Amino acid sequence: KTTTASAYGDSDFVVVANRLPVDRDPAEKNQGWRTSPGGLVTAVAPVMKSQEGAWIGWTGVPDVDFDPFTIDGMHLVPVTLTSEDVLKYYEGFSNATLWPLYHDVIVPPEFHRTWWESYVRVNERFAAKVAEVAAEGATVWVHDYQLQLVPQLVRRTRPDLAIGFFNHIPFPPYELFAQLPWRDEILRGLLGADLIGFQRPADAANFRRAVRGRLNFTTKGSTVNVPAGDFLPEHIVRAEAFPISIDTPYLEELARDPKIIERAQQIREEIGNPKVVMLGVDRMDYTKGIRHRLKAFGELLAEGKLDVEDVVLIQIATPSRERLEQYKIIRHDVELAVGRINGEQAEVGSIAVHYLHHSYPRDEMTAFFLAADVMLVTALRDGMNLVAKEYVACRRRDDGALVLSEFTGAADQLKGAVMVNPHDIGDLKAGILDAVQMDEKTRSRRMKQMRKKIATDTVSIWSKKFLAELEAIHTNPEAIIPD
Ligand code: ADP
Ligand code: G6P
Repeated sequence: KTTTASAYGDSDFVVVANRLPVDRDPAEKNQGWRTSPGGLVTAVAPVMKSQEGAWIGWTGVPDVDFDPFTIDGMHLVPVTLTSEDVLKYYEGFSNATLWPLYHDVIVPPEFHRTWWESYVRVNERFAAKVAEVAAEGATVWVHDYQLQLVPQLVRRTRPDLAIGFFNHIPFPPYELFAQLPWRDEILRGLLGADLIGFQRPADAANFRRAVRGRLNFTTKGSTVNVPAGDFLPEHIVRAEAFPISIDTPYLEELARDPKIIERAQQIREEIGNPKVVMLGVDRMDYTKGIRHRLKAFGELLAEGKLDVEDVVLIQIATPSRERLEQYKIIRHDVELAVGRINGEQAEVGSIAVHYLHHSYPRDEMTAFFLAADVMLVTALRDGMNLVAKEYVACRRRDDGALVLSEFTGAADQLKGAVMVNPHDIGDLKAGILDAVQMDEKTRSRRMKQMRKKIATDTVSIWSKKFLAELEAIHTNPEAIIPD
């Protein structure tokens, strides 16, 4: 239920992210709000639901001021973005500069000074909102690449706060990061935090190397010594890996629901009960390797290594960042590839690729995970990839196989997957065939191993660990310096 929150101005725990966990639903269902897209919200919303606090973020609608409100037990504090902010800060600097730069420059990042100016302005607006909402001595947890200046800005005005930052996407190797004209400003922005979390140890190491290389600050293990200077007061920062995860118990519960199990059976029937159902679930993004996946699948069909009567691919691709040129291109390429594969390989009654360009409620997503024998996660670069973990959590019978790109954070944890290099179409084809042909015993052994990992690797443990360490550092920073 949506209500106006009264006591949001005195929160002991504040989450800050570009997006609120809900955005405006154009269909005006559910009191006008629906779940926002992407892994950040999937992961952080359950944390927020289990804890009192406020979430500062944008509603997804430009030029409209919303009052704070409460939904699903979460106190939300909207920040307004103008149409110009959306163009320059969100679509521009966040998603056409930082996103491609941090994802191995899969497409070329664009550098524009006016986008940077807008990024600074919007980060200042978020930081001002934090200063307004956070109680004395509160914990503030800033999320993701859109808000990398917020830790520094908050520390300047509110040195009483414990400030954590978590980067949900990769942090690039120094040689790529160094392209950014505002690289020093970004590093200083992040170093306002007490604790900076990354998905993989390699991301944390990239960050510390950039700090040494650009700012000449010393690091020891995962700690960074920030000396007193014009931009930041003297303090100690820890920068290390905290691989994010999913709400495993919740997904396991959904996967046991008889209605969802029946729906999974129905999905298989509706697509003609093929022997093997393969599934891809992604935002429509060039980082996800959807084109590579389709190319591999198309070739396997064309070469007769897979038969369209036996194997069906369901590709779900949520609409994302649709006004950006590179997102228009990837959508066009994917749709062309799907059309080509179906045109060349499908028969009446046997469609090769079922392509679905919408988002689905959680129950329906779970039914898709249950219906799939083989899950394809072939990202060219991905901070974590929660979809891989969600699939594993849903396979309570220890069946099904996961094909997983080695360029995802999840590859560090899901060792039972069939690992592939998606740039190598030959390797991708071999991985897909491996997964399709894998005998039941091997599938079961590998899935059991992955399920065991996911059972103890939950988002609730992740957040507790991060917040406990943040508190320890904030209360006694000297104690964390290694000898
Ligand atoms: P990213 O954060 O880059 O989008 P992740 O795989 O980490 O990638 O997280 C994506 C999240 O969005 C997952 O929780 C996934 O289940 C969800 N999701 C992806 N596609 C859809 C869809 N079409 N409908 C509903 N949820 C989706
Ligand atoms: C990824 C990013 C998030 C972002 C999400 C959806 O998960 O890490 O920060 O919110 O994608 O993207 P969008 O641009 O729609 O917020």
